[in-house]
Amino acid sequence: ARLGVVLVAAGRGERLGAGKPKAFVELAGETLIERCARTITSLPGGGHLVVVVPEELAGETLALLAQFTDAGSLWELSVTPGGRERHESVRFGVDALPEYADVVLVHDAARPLTPAALFERVATEVRRTAASVIPALPVVDTLKRVDANGVVHETVDRAPLVAVQTPQGFPRELLAAAHDRLGSVSAPVGAEQPTDDAEVVQRAGGTVLTVPGEALAHKLTTPGDLTLLLALLNAQGP
Ligand code: C5P
Repeated sequence: ARLGVVLVAAGRGERLGAGKPKAFVELAGETLIERCARTITSLPGGGHLVVVVPEELAGETLALLAQFTDAGSLWELSVTPGGRERHESVRFGVDALPEYADVVLVHDAARPLTPAALFERVATEVRRTAASVIPALPVVDTLKRVDANGVVHETVDRAPLVAVQTPQGFPRELLAAAHDRLGSVSAPVGAEQPTDDAEVVQRAGGTVLTVPGEALAHKLTTPGDLTLLLALLNAQGP
């Protein structure tokens, strides 16, 4: 039982406006891809990490990853080109994993400070339950439903709601079958593109469990998130 990790880094990151894909942005001198790869290749037991990137950046990515491929490592690394939508990038990543990877963790490169403990918590729960597992945090803000003009219609009860993160973990066969189905069955009327893999699994009828998430798994989306992540990084100390 060895891990397969799909690190999705093929988004354009337009909301960040950094002039380059988000995963290649540096946080305190190191790209998001490097920060994630360092954490993942520190996980015990080893496995295969595939980094999914825009095709033209494959060479640059291999160069960034070279520092993590020392002879004694239990981790193999590879790079594969992504797709137009996130779920396509994940699918290409899963297809690129070796046969031996029977548990797959899918992680957003945009969550560069996610601690190793969260990867381990998710993988352990996938193995224990043979189900899909995602990290979740309680919602702390008050939630309102608004119309297109921003006029408030009602307060939404937040008690049954959670905010979910990555890494998301799956038995490999289950994830691969759910992605195959997404590609072959037409989506429910009005359905958007799925924004995470738990949604892909749920559309295929699968059960998804949660484990506690981590504030450090915060996602870089807007320029303000860069400031927040730097503060989180500095608060961690040396
Ligand atoms: O755009 P968003 O921030 O939701 O993207 C989440 C993650 O999915 C990012 O790490 C991004 O690089 C990745 N992604 C991808 N391929 C796409 C779109 C997004 O790998 N086509």
